[in-house]
Amino acid sequence: MARFVIISVVVVAAFAAAAVVEARVGPIDVAPTNLITNPLGVIIDNGRKITGAVVDECAWTCDHVAADNMKMCNTLRKLPGVSSPKELLTAAVKLSMRKAKAARARFEAAARAAEKGTPMESILDTCKEGYDNTVSALQEVQRCIDANDSKASLITKMSAATTFTGDCGNAYEERELEPSLALKATKNNVNRVVTGALAIAAKLKL
Ligand SMILES: *[C@@H]1O[C@H](CO)[C@@H](O)[C@H](O)[C@H]1NC(C)=O
Repeated sequence: MARFVIISVVVVAAFAAAAVVEARVGPIDVAPTNLITNPLGVIIDNGRKITGAVVDECAWTCDHVAADNMKMCNTLRKLPGVSSPKELLTAAVKLSMRKAKAARARFEAAARAAEKGTPMESILDTCKEGYDNTVSALQEVQRCIDANDSKASLITKMSAATTFTGDCGNAYEERELEPSLALKATKNNVNRVVTGALAIAAKLKL
């Protein structure tokens, strides 16, 4: 009887110690995956509530993109309605889409105004087409996001968008001509946001 009591006490003590260790280590030792943030911002890990260790997955993503993309990422994650990785990427894709559409319109207008049959007209046409293709690729990215596609296919489509974005700069380089300052700014702006969206996609915990 005495032996049974001692064993029971030891077993109970062991369980209690394990519970203490679990309570101490559990909240610290969580990766941002498998975590669901409910509308109150409380993180649930396999049904267990964790307090004091709220992992903001969007902040985590922005901390892990290259320095060049950090500012854009942090701006987007603070927008109203952006609280999940999916919404962060959607915001990046929407921003890219707006910039690419604006660039397409500007280069189209410049192509129309250019002297016909000149190398410059040809470059401007290439740019317009490149941004046209960028817009289409971004639409596909958005479809992938909405369909909960794999991260790999998202990155493939996002990479296609960045390739099309580069067509304009390549066209100028190949003909050794320079864009006007305004068009150069437009071109660099699209490159920046589309590259940023790809960086965000690559670091997302989806
Ligand atoms: C994608 O996932 C979300 C949340 O997990 C779900 O509500 C939605 O219905 C899914 N969409 C599709 C097209 O499967």
